Amino acid sequence: MFSQTSTRHHLMNTAHRPAQIFIRGEGAWLIDANERRYLDWMQGWAVNALGHAPAAVAAALAAQAATLLTPSPALHNAPALQLAERLCQLSDFDQVYFANSGAEANEGAIKLARKWGRLHRGGAHQIITFGKAFHGRTLAAMAASGKPGWDALFPPTMPGFAKAEFNNLASVEKLVGQHTVAIMLEPVQGEAGVIPATSEFMQGLRALCDKHGLLLIVDEVQTGCGRTGPLFAYQHHGIRPDIMTLGKGLGGGVPISALLATDAVSCFEPGDQGGTFGGNPLVCAAGLAMIDALTAPGFLTRAWLHGEALADGLRSLSREFALGEVRGSGMLWALELGRNNAPLIANAAMDAGLLVNAPHPHCLRFMPPLNSTADEISHGLDLLGQALAHYG
Ligand SMILES: Cc1ncc(COP(=O)(O)O)c(C=O)c1O
Repeated sequence: MFSQTSTRHHLMNTAHRPAQIFIRGEGAWLIDANERRYLDWMQGWAVNALGHAPAAVAAALAAQAATLLTPSPALHNAPALQLAERLCQLSDFDQVYFANSGAEANEGAIKLARKWGRLHRGGAHQIITFGKAFHGRTLAAMAASGKPGWDALFPPTMPGFAKAEFNNLASVEKLVGQHTVAIMLEPVQGEAGVIPATSEFMQGLRALCDKHGLLLIVDEVQTGCGRTGPLFAYQHHGIRPDIMTLGKGLGGGVPISALLATDAVSCFEPGDQGGTFGGNPLVCAAGLAMIDALTAPGFLTRAWLHGEALADGLRSLSREFALGEVRGSGMLWALELGRNNAPLIANAAMDAGLLVNAPHPHCLRFMPPLNSTADEISHGLDLLGQALAHYG
């Protein structure tokens, strides 16, 4: 066993981490070095749609690892071709570029929109994004994000983004000008505390894009792959975006992300975009296993029903402890606490054996595996109730 204190200082201090070291995962459960089991409702921040170490992904990885890992991004490989085809069949897009993280997929979306603007809109390049948005931590993705304080962190900030107010169509319309090329948003603002876009807003954005010849970009890094109910969250709203990004759940724990575009928009040429590991057969094999699982008959319906049970339980805890709103859908929910005690409650929940995330001091976020059982949902609600009894 390695020494915890001597090894820890070699990691850059980029996150507040609890002392435990986690060594194993089994579905909804995460197990630390002392064999303590935690019901995990963070799941790698909405990554593990099938929970920890899902057998289907482990088998796909083992088979692919013994066959072909990384030929070269400049050569075709079968899993990448198959995964791109499946994603296009299941969505409204025609072409896919694979990358390694959500931020990198969004970076690609921004580049694609700028190139399309150069080719088709006289050099228009500005992208309207939203206050409190989260698109990742590369410099362009940070500039596209609307996290308070981020614009001052690593100056100079990348230009080319204008910020509107989420769910306020007039605030978007006011920003549209001759340099505007696209509107980019999360269908549910996850890091902001699970704030869903209304259908009226999403449909209004589509109409605005059509009116002014703009591209609609949905960042579904968090909401995609069944997290909010349908396979993709834009499908809640009866609209067709021009560009979509995926990440997190696509690999079920393995780093793969994707940039999808319609034929009319997909204008990258050789040399415009690339990366050493993007679309390698190993991660694409995991992606194929995930897509098979997510599209199995009845899978998303069951996830939806268990998500509704989770929401019912959260609503009754909110009533019991006089808390605030319960927001979300599918397996992505937030509970408003009405007070800035979310970190305390998250710590108390961990002590009780439940891992939850506090994206803001006043709210908790819940991202259980999509294949959670009814027993796991009710057990998690019991543990959360114990934590709220301490600090609610
Ligand atoms: C909506 C959204 N976009 C982008 C990202 C960034 O993804 P990654 O951390 O894989 O770069 C995240 C991560 O939380 C996200 O929620």
